[in-house]
Amino acid sequence: MSYYQVKNLEQYFKHYNKSIREPRKFWERIADENFTWYQKWDKVVEFDMQEANIKWFLNAKVNITKNCIDRHLAKRGDKTAIIFEPNNPAEEAQHITYNELYDRVCKMANVLRDQGIKKGDRVCIYLPMIPELAVAVLACARIGAIHSVVFAGFSASAVTSRINDSGCKMVITSDGGFRGNKTIELKSIIDEALQKCETVEKVLVVKRTGSEVKMKEGRDIWLQPLLDEAMANNVAEIMDAEDPLFILYTSGSTGKPKGMLHTTAGYMVYSAYTFKNIFAYEENDVYWCTADIGWITGHSYIVYGPLLNGATTVIFEGIPSYPDFGRFWEVIDKHKVTQFYTAPTAIRSLAKENWEWVDKYDLSTLKVIGSVGEPINEEAWHWYNDHVGKKKSPIVDTWWQTETGGIMISPLPFVTPTKPTYATLPLPGVQPVLMDEKRNEIEGNQVVGSLCIKFPWPGMARSIWGDHQRFKETYFSTFPGKYFTGDGALRDEVGYYRITGRVDDVVIVSGHNLGTAPIEDAINEHPAVAESAIVGFPHDVKGNALYGFIILKESGEGRDRENLKKEINEHISSHIGPIAKLDKIQFVSGLPKTRSGKIMRRILRKIAEGDFSNFGDTTTLLNPEIVEEIKEGKL
Ligand code: PRX
Repeated sequence: MSYYQVKNLEQYFKHYNKSIREPRKFWERIADENFTWYQKWDKVVEFDMQEANIKWFLNAKVNITKNCIDRHLAKRGDKTAIIFEPNNPAEEAQHITYNELYDRVCKMANVLRDQGIKKGDRVCIYLPMIPELAVAVLACARIGAIHSVVFAGFSASAVTSRINDSGCKMVITSDGGFRGNKTIELKSIIDEALQKCETVEKVLVVKRTGSEVKMKEGRDIWLQPLLDEAMANNVAEIMDAEDPLFILYTSGSTGKPKGMLHTTAGYMVYSAYTFKNIFAYEENDVYWCTADIGWITGHSYIVYGPLLNGATTVIFEGIPSYPDFGRFWEVIDKHKVTQFYTAPTAIRSLAKENWEWVDKYDLSTLKVIGSVGEPINEEAWHWYNDHVGKKKSPIVDTWWQTETGGIMISPLPFVTPTKPTYATLPLPGVQPVLMDEKRNEIEGNQVVGSLCIKFPWPGMARSIWGDHQRFKETYFSTFPGKYFTGDGALRDEVGYYRITGRVDDVVIVSGHNLGTAPIEDAINEHPAVAESAIVGFPHDVKGNALYGFIILKESGEGRDRENLKKEINEHISSHIGPIAKLDKIQFVSGLPKTRSGKIMRRILRKIAEGDFSNFGDTTTLLNPEIVEEIKEGKL
């Protein structure tokens, strides 16, 4: 494997500059030297950033699972590919070798084919964090089916809309899942979701909890008996470089979630390259990312990136607080974890507990520790550095998105000096720029602007499923010809980037990307609600929490307010999922609006934050008096 690893900052800059001067050569060499192809490309990249048309490795033929599994078998057949750490620490961990993974993926792939799944079909995967989730993802990729993993915390109606948007033919789920001391009834959520789905023909059910489930005749099938009958060999589908690999939904600023479409070869090259460099992975390391495979972090850095590098990757079913607050550290000690990758929310919640929970365990195997999903505040950074990294394992604060497919801005461990709260420097091959309000590129350092990327990279999403126009408008129109991330950033005096947060209507709550519009849509469906506006406000554990300003209908005015608050949150839970619940609800008689009827969220954000200092110009408001009223009623 050669990924141009650099040893020091001087080499990084040299290497970076070269990658920018000759991006085609740069990516071509990585693609050429590190993968098994059926056929190589005619051209490295073809793009039109105005029209949002991007293709990488044109006409190359490849199967990503051959690269994740088959090619490792000769040398690493008996090496552990996956360590499964169950929710309950008393349940034995599983060590799945590359040979065993091969058998399991082939069997699952054969089952999918037997059940009528063909190349290009969409398969929805709704599973807890158990090995079958990774196996199902890989089995889809093996036969060219497009996987759409839906995080198992989403509610039935969120599942329905995702299944219908991409027309899934099959669902793979389980009887349930364990999470701390709770059991989640996944199959009954699927049953409810499928009442409004026309396209699903088959539901494969993994047995995990032993909960009683209803099996619908002709549609639902237990998976294990099918696997027992299946052959442990499977000829992988030959995929074109630009054939879709997966769809993964992310929130948008309008009600409908966006099905980000990732394709085969570019994503493969990018996830493998970033994994190797950012985690400085070496042959016998044990790597653990605590994310869920239902998010992009799990796709790229639990499944694809590690397996493409022949790594050992941990899949953890549980939560950081079960059975106690030492669980993460116990697991690191138990499996001798060398790279640990988690979210600031988890760090903040654990930092609130006694540090003895950490110091009780031996974390001396750790070499690199990472952070992802939201800005990490200074206090959490230091806690992580002191107690987990023991000031010797560098923190890689990795900035990226569902849309980017892999990490874009991050320190390279032992190369880039870290700086608290800074994601630092772009990876070689990545060209970030800051833009001002007039759409000009801001040159130089010590500047602030909207973060864009000005040259394509192989891991970028290619489209939104079924809506290329929306893809173009969302990401390529604000700053024509550039990819707009939706984030604001500053570049300090040495060129380090710090992400300052979203500049659109997306709020990151506990690392989950939540569009405010879909939550407002859900709230507005409540019979007592006339209108609502949601904004984020700072929260010491979650990073941000949601604050809802809600106008009631006349019929709702007489209702008990506390009961209504509960109902509204239950309503959000069942429409979107518990992650989107509001921390604070303030009932108001109006919302500050411009003359064209647009809600002035800037003002609501300030009120929610408790900052009444300067609301800016409110004279353009249709109803300036409402600001005072809302301010007075603030919780
Ligand atoms: O605002 C940025 C924030 O998370 C957004 C992307 O969310 P999602 O697509 O769910 O992907 C999360 C996992 C990659 C970004 O637009 N974000 C992500 N990483 C960081 C971050 N903000 C600050 N620092 C980070 N390291």
